[in-house]
Amino acid sequence: MLEALAKKNASCGGDRNIWFIHGATNSKTHAFSNHVKNITSDWPSAQSHYAYSAPLATDIQGSDYDSQGRVSIDLLKSLLPINSYGHEHGNGWDCDFYFCGPPAFMESIYKGLKQINIQDDRIHYEFFGPGASLLKSQPGENKGLIGEPKNQTPVSVRFEKSGIEVDWEPSKGTLLDLAEKQGLTPPYSCRSGVCGTCATKIIEGDVAYVDPPLAETAAGQALICCAYPGKSAKQNNLLKLDL
Ligand code: FES
Repeated sequence: MLEALAKKNASCGGDRNIWFIHGATNSKTHAFSNHVKNITSDWPSAQSHYAYSAPLATDIQGSDYDSQGRVSIDLLKSLLPINSYGHEHGNGWDCDFYFCGPPAFMESIYKGLKQINIQDDRIHYEFFGPGASLLKSQPGENKGLIGEPKNQTPVSVRFEKSGIEVDWEPSKGTLLDLAEKQGLTPPYSCRSGVCGTCATKIIEGDVAYVDPPLAETAAGQALICCAYPGKSAKQNNLLKLDL
């Protein structure tokens, strides 16, 4: 994830700062330490902060870890260029937040971000293990596709296993929104193209994305949480998904 963001940032001109903030008990449970060090030294836009809740006597602050305690909204506010209103110091806020961890941690970070007025579309997350949605995209709550022209001819989408065929247009949102509206329950987690959980086989047609997803997608699959019918599906008025 960190590497994907750093590469994407570099390919877009590298004008964004990326913070990797990680909580662990101590150096014994600190995963991927060397890997992250390599990424932050390879990509100047990326920097890290490690919080240890119970450092070992041999753990050195400033070398093995940066602060003692847990990752919290207060730690984020102390590190990131946001003030208590969610605004970046200076020019108005422009931060995206990606986080993952156990449910209690997720809920506390999400609540903290909402308290400082971070908008849902800047919050992206993934649970460790089975999770639930913290955010906006509950079935039936889609806000339509941002960035797609509104007046388009509807495209027929067939959910093959379920035997359901329904028209898609931009107001219906993503293909995941569309499936849920029909009562289907495809798996998902982040709903923002980061985790890959919603990958679904395309039987016929193609898909497009408003923004390229960060998660890798195998050929012939679609990340339906952020996809809509693509060019050939529109031309042939048919997209068939293995759902
Ligand atoms: S739910 Fe995470 S990529 Fe679609």
